[in-house]
Amino acid sequence: MKWNAFATLMMLASTGFAAAQAGWSPSTDVLGAHLNYGRGCTACHSPHSGASGNGSAKAADASSGNAILWGEDVSSLYGKTITTGGGRFVETLPASMSATTPDVSGMLTCLSCHDGNYAQNAMMRNKIYESLPASYGSNNAIPTLIANNGTSTGSYLSDHPVGLSAKVSCGANNWDCSQSNGVISMKGANSNKFVTNYGFFVKLGNYSNNAVVVCTTCHNPHAMNVVTVTSSSTSRLPAGTYATMFFLRGPFNPNDSNPLSNQTAQFCRQCHGDKSNEMNGSTAGTVF
Ligand code: HEC
Ligand code: HEC
Ligand code: HEC
Ligand code: HEC
Repeated sequence: MKWNAFATLMMLASTGFAAAQAGWSPSTDVLGAHLNYGRGCTACHSPHSGASGNGSAKAADASSGNAILWGEDVSSLYGKTITTGGGRFVETLPASMSATTPDVSGMLTCLSCHDGNYAQNAMMRNKIYESLPASYGSNNAIPTLIANNGTSTGSYLSDHPVGLSAKVSCGANNWDCSQSNGVISMKGANSNKFVTNYGFFVKLGNYSNNAVVVCTTCHNPHAMNVVTVTSSSTSRLPAGTYATMFFLRGPFNPNDSNPLSNQTAQFCRQCHGDKSNEMNGSTAGTVF
């Protein structure tokens, strides 16, 4: 008995260091909310016949399933204009799943369930799935249908800039990074230091040789609660698993019991370099 308890402790100590430190529970399925109440991978990727294979085709769509075997109906979103960032970023959604721009797999996909206006899906409960710490407000349930969020239906004005015009830049008012053919390299003195302190986990889209922001830039639909750092990651945090929430691609744990934790702010600083410690003469790294 005694030995078993000791062995368990040792195992936790060696394998669970980063996870335990960050508060992630290794017993939960990483797909989380995207288990889609039991339907699993096939809610999103239909092995045959696109949306028809899921019985969810509202209209005949010859390109359904052509990109990443997409199995939700997106026909009602084709060519629609959505305006984010208070009006400055205007995005015309692709006209088919065969288009080759990054907003096909990076935006049309998510909006097929999360729009709630043009695209409506019965599966959605329009309520956050994870339990939130007390640092969030409790006056309302946090909506997941972002264009049907209880205010003005159909509006994306209150959403973070996304789309082919939401370009990430280097230089003035940002990181000392450089961009070539739409690929950002965090190799300046401060941006390189940030990669050491946190990392550059975002997956930018590439449109006309510009780095652009789509939904999958910040979110990885396959892992809700964990980020794995290995020696090949663009991060020099110790290898291991780190807690995240909301399918975010970098460590982002608002449940951290340390009130001085800054990991959630670090997530935003990946692209907002002017608001980082490194660009403002502070030596603070990432605090978990
Ligand atoms: C909620 C929707 C959703 C679910 C559920 C989902 N995926 Fe995906 N998957 C996506 C999206 C969106 C992309 C495109 C990602 C991008 O462009 O960055 C993708 C891409 C992929 C790709 C191609 C690119 C890559 O990352 O390798 C594969 C393979 C894949 N998914 C397999 C799976 C498997 C296997 C499962 C179940 C374990 C699964 N997916 C569950 C949405 C989903
Ligand atoms: C097949 C439908 C489907 C697709 C496609 C889909 N989601 Fe979801 N997503 C869900 C469901 C179901 C939930 C649980 C909440 C609900 O029912 O409203 C959810 C929840 C979420 C949450 C909140 C999870 C939490 O922390 O509670 C985020 C963030 C999210 N999805 C992002 C995305 C992004 C980004 C994409 C595109 C890459 C995407 N989803 C594509 C079905 C989908
Ligand atoms: C710049 C990064 C970024 C982009 C781009 C982004 N999100 Fe998010 N998203 C976040 C963050 C951060 C959160 C968690 C916010 C929090 O802690 O409350 C979030 C939360 C969510 C949630 C949970 C509900 C909520 O409001 O907290 C959903 C659903 C979601 N995102 C879907 C999307 C979809 C769909 C897109 C593309 C149209 C998208 N996101 C683009 C960063 C992003
Ligand atoms: C993937 C890169 C990226 C990440 C990560 C990111 N942003 Fe942004 N953000 C942008 C870009 C690009 C713009 C548009 C910049 C411009 O041209 O003005 C923007 C604009 C904004 C704006 C101004 C919006 C407006 O209407 O003018 C705010 C505020 C903002 N971001 C907050 C955040 C917060 C908070 C986070 C973390 C939850 C975050 N951002 C994470 C890329 C990013």
